[in-house]
Amino acid sequence: MYVPPMVVTNDDLAKLVDTSDEWITERTGIRQRRFSQGAPTWVLGREAALQAIENAGIEAGEIDMIIACSVTSDYCTPSLACMLQREIGAESAACWDMNAACSGFIFALDAAYRYLATGGASTILIVCSEVLSRITDFEDRSTCVLFGDGAGAVVVKKDEGRLFESCVRSQGKSGGALFARSGKFTSPFVKKEEIEKYDLFRENPGCHLVMEGREVYRFAVAAMPEMINNVCEKAGIPCGDLDWVIPHQANIRIIKTAAERLHIGMEKMVINLDRYGNTSCASIPMCLDELNRSGRLKRGARIALAGFGAGLTCGAIVLEW
Ligand code: COA
Repeated sequence: MYVPPMVVTNDDLAKLVDTSDEWITERTGIRQRRFSQGAPTWVLGREAALQAIENAGIEAGEIDMIIACSVTSDYCTPSLACMLQREIGAESAACWDMNAACSGFIFALDAAYRYLATGGASTILIVCSEVLSRITDFEDRSTCVLFGDGAGAVVVKKDEGRLFESCVRSQGKSGGALFARSGKFTSPFVKKEEIEKYDLFRENPGCHLVMEGREVYRFAVAAMPEMINNVCEKAGIPCGDLDWVIPHQANIRIIKTAAERLHIGMEKMVINLDRYGNTSCASIPMCLDELNRSGRLKRGARIALAGFGAGLTCGAIVLEW
C-alpha cells in the first residue's frame, strides 16, 4: 500500500465545513485521512505496485497482465495500467483498466482468477489507486468528510494460495445514488441544451462526487452480508470458520451491521477507515497489506473480502492466503 504523507484530521475539515470531530467519528468511525499534495493517481499506484512486486519477490518482467482500478484516473487515455507499465518496466504485460468503483478490487481479483484459471496469464499485478480529493466537493459536508487518497496493489499467481469462490453483481438502475461526471461534453457543432437533455443526473450538475448517503447505506448493509454468505455457502465454508473478513472501508456502522448479521466477532473484521477514510477500491488491498505486514496473516488463513460502491456494484471473494 501507499498513502500520501499529508494527514487531514476531522478538526481540519471542521475549519472548512459545518461539521465536528464528534459527528464524523460517531457516524462514520473516520478520524483522519490522507490527501495528496499534488501527486496524481498514477504516482500513488506506482508506489504501491513497486512494493507489491518487491514483497512477491518477482521481477517486473515476469508480469504478464496489469489490471488497474480507479475512478480518478489521470488520463482518459492511455489507461492507468499502461501508465503503470511504463513506470515499473513490466514490458511483457497486457494492460487494461477496470472501473467498478469501490468494488474494483473484488471485480479485478475475480477477473484475474479467471485469466489464471484459463491460462490466459500467469502473473498478474492488480493496482487500485485513488486520489478522491480531486473529485471531492469541499463545500459539501455530507461527502467531503468520508473520503481519502491511497493505493493498494497485489501480485497474484497460479498455484499460490487458493480462491474458493467469488461473486460480483451490479445494480445500474441505482447509479444516481453515487456518481461523478468525467467532464463536460462540449462541441462547437451541438447546442448546450441538446447535450444536457441526455444527462441522466442533470438535477445535480457539476463535476464533483454526488451521493445519496442513506440509499448507499441501505444498499451496503444488505449487500455486504449477503455477498459474504453467498460465497461462503458456495465454498462450503461456514462464516464462523473465516479467520479474517476484509470489508470495504466506508463506514464503521456498515461493517458492524455486517458482522452482526454474519455472527462474526468484530475482532475478525479488518479496519483501517479510522486512519484513511474511504479510499474506494484501494481500501481492501490496503487492509490486506497492513494485516500481512503486522504478521497476523498466516499461510492457509481463510479470508473473505467484500466490497460495494458506485454503479451500484458489490461483490465478495473467499480465499486461502
Ligand atoms: N457533519 C455534521 N452534520 C452532518 C454531516 C457532517 N459531516 N453530514 C451530514 N450531516 C447532517 C445532515 O445534514 C443531517 O442533518 P438534518 O437532520 O438537519 O437534515 C444529519 O446530519 C443526518 O444526516 P444523514 O444523512 O441522515 O446522516 P447519516 O447518519 O445517514 O450519515 C452518512 C450520513 C453519509 C455517513 C451515511 O449515510 C453513510 O455512511 N452512507 C453510506 C455512504 C457510503 O458508504 N458511501 C461510499 C460508498 S462506496
